[in-house]
Amino acid sequence: FTMRQPLVAGNWKMNGSRASVAALLDGLKAGIGQVTTAEVAVCAPAILIADTQASLQGSSIKWGGQDLSVHESGAYTGEIAGPMLADFGCHYVIIGHSERRAYHGESDALVAEKFVAARNAGLVPILCVGETLEERESGITEQVVARQIDAVVAHCGIDKVGEGVIAYEPVWAIGTGKTATPEQAQEVHAFIRGRLAASSASVAEDMQILYGGSMNPKNAAELIGQADIDGGLIGGASLKADDFLAVCSAANG
Ligand code: PGA
Repeated sequence: FTMRQPLVAGNWKMNGSRASVAALLDGLKAGIGQVTTAEVAVCAPAILIADTQASLQGSSIKWGGQDLSVHESGAYTGEIAGPMLADFGCHYVIIGHSERRAYHGESDALVAEKFVAARNAGLVPILCVGETLEERESGITEQVVARQIDAVVAHCGIDKVGEGVIAYEPVWAIGTGKTATPEQAQEVHAFIRGRLAASSASVAEDMQILYGGSMNPKNAAELIGQADIDGGLIGGASLKADDFLAVCSAANG
């Protein structure tokens, strides 16, 4: 039996300025001493990662990117490569976020390639999966999530998948204030763990599976209290130091 360390990762999305990020990180550093058992990270817009690194260096808070290219370098205008993120001290990179899948046409196959690119750069990928409202109402939530995970397992192998983190983010709960109930979330988390277990019991047991979608200081403790929910990927509530710290404290158990 392994104890999975809780992880709370902020996803700032396309928000913030140099000034607001400096203030937010000062606030996080001032309060993070209370969070002793949970691991905490923030995923910054690429252009704010250097400032994030300068601020967080030497603190217990890790940082990461929100996306990366499948390529290591070259003529890919506008893209950010995994080795660049690593060069700025990133520990994590979010991949396959539903906003990337929906607005940038990222396929399961591309996301699987990004998983490999992240690991090749020494980054820990946070692989996002989740169904839309239409898919949930059609009763195909498990099929969708299985397809998204199986694509990465088929491309990378289960052991490499075990080097990452999975975030279950029902699309209908992201930024909507409509959180999945703890029971709804736990059901899908257990399904994901079972799916991994079909390939490797030990990878399934050790995998950190985060919930994302309108997690906030009010609902975090109950969600993270579920057996298969190992933390959160936090959008809106990660932009205010007090809210994010409150979610981190809830994960601290
Ligand atoms: P939210 O975003 O917390 O604002 O719903 C979560 C996410 O998209 O990662």
